[in-house]
Amino acid sequence: MVTTGEQAVDIKQTASFSLANYLQEKKVLVESALSDSLAIGKPEKIYEAMRYSLLAGGKRLRPILCLATCELMGGTISMAMPTACALEMIHTMSLIHDDLPAMDNDDYRRGKLTNHKVFGEDIAILAGDGLLAYAFEYVATQTRNVPPERIIDVIARLGRTVGAAGLVGGQVLDLESEGKTDINAQTLSFIHSHKTGALLETSVVSGAILGGAKAEEVQRLSRYAQNIGLAFQIIDDILDITATDEELGKTAGKDLQAQKATYPSLWGIEESRKQAQNLVDSAIEELQGFSDSANPLRAIAQYIVTRKN
Ligand code: FPP
Ligand code: MG
Repeated sequence: MVTTGEQAVDIKQTASFSLANYLQEKKVLVESALSDSLAIGKPEKIYEAMRYSLLAGGKRLRPILCLATCELMGGTISMAMPTACALEMIHTMSLIHDDLPAMDNDDYRRGKLTNHKVFGEDIAILAGDGLLAYAFEYVATQTRNVPPERIIDVIARLGRTVGAAGLVGGQVLDLESEGKTDINAQTLSFIHSHKTGALLETSVVSGAILGGAKAEEVQRLSRYAQNIGLAFQIIDDILDITATDEELGKTAGKDLQAQKATYPSLWGIEESRKQAQNLVDSAIEELQGFSDSANPLRAIAQYIVTRKN
């Protein structure tokens, strides 16, 4: 068990690579870049609301995946950092909106009061909108030393990821499925591949594109990401049952309370864990042919099933 800044991480150490150190180093870079990305402007209240949620901590998994794949392709951290920040802006805005009374009506997120609890519903909606718009502006205006066609490709993928073909579509089906008892594994997988998987996939793929990946490498990394995305969600569903409010930084047991169909409700906890491990194994297989520089991606895949929050 190794302690990072935020949590205890149960990770097998290898002589040459420590995931705990890797995550911690990258998280420090991401936190600093996020803080620099958004200064307080006028009207102050909206910038404060945007910064409140953007800088509330979290694993920063999406930006770290983006930096990791850019480096894997021979690119630099600085080439990918504006996109890494944009991914976290989009993730944060989706959580602000997801927590609203009209959606999941949650009071806590990342161990702090949710945005609307602090700033009110009106400002929380606008803070989400502000972060979403700024994410695109940020990639377009702040990315340096990357050919423009790669930047345009990333912007187009980000757009598709947040829209009806991605997060928005997944969230709609998720809301429609609440309280229904006949949700099957196919519908569940549609919800999660859109609501959670799409942004994880774009995090992995956008870093690779910025770093100069070939089409075949993008496809392999997409499959890696789809597998870890689904495993991530299965573990999320398990943690909602097994972890405490303190461990999660949000209210545990919400899925049962909202009568949401989940993987444990379909398969039971043990089978869900097995399925998540199978997906992680498949994800790691997709990395065959990449050198040791893909070790962070291999270790992150494994971490997804052992994480405690
Ligand atoms: C958390 O899921 C929510 C998401 C992963 C995304 C939700 C998407 C939206 C609200 C659409 C946002 C709008 C745009 C334009 C992108 P959860 O409720 O299962 O997990 P939780 O327990 O962490 O809340
Ligand atoms: Mg929610």
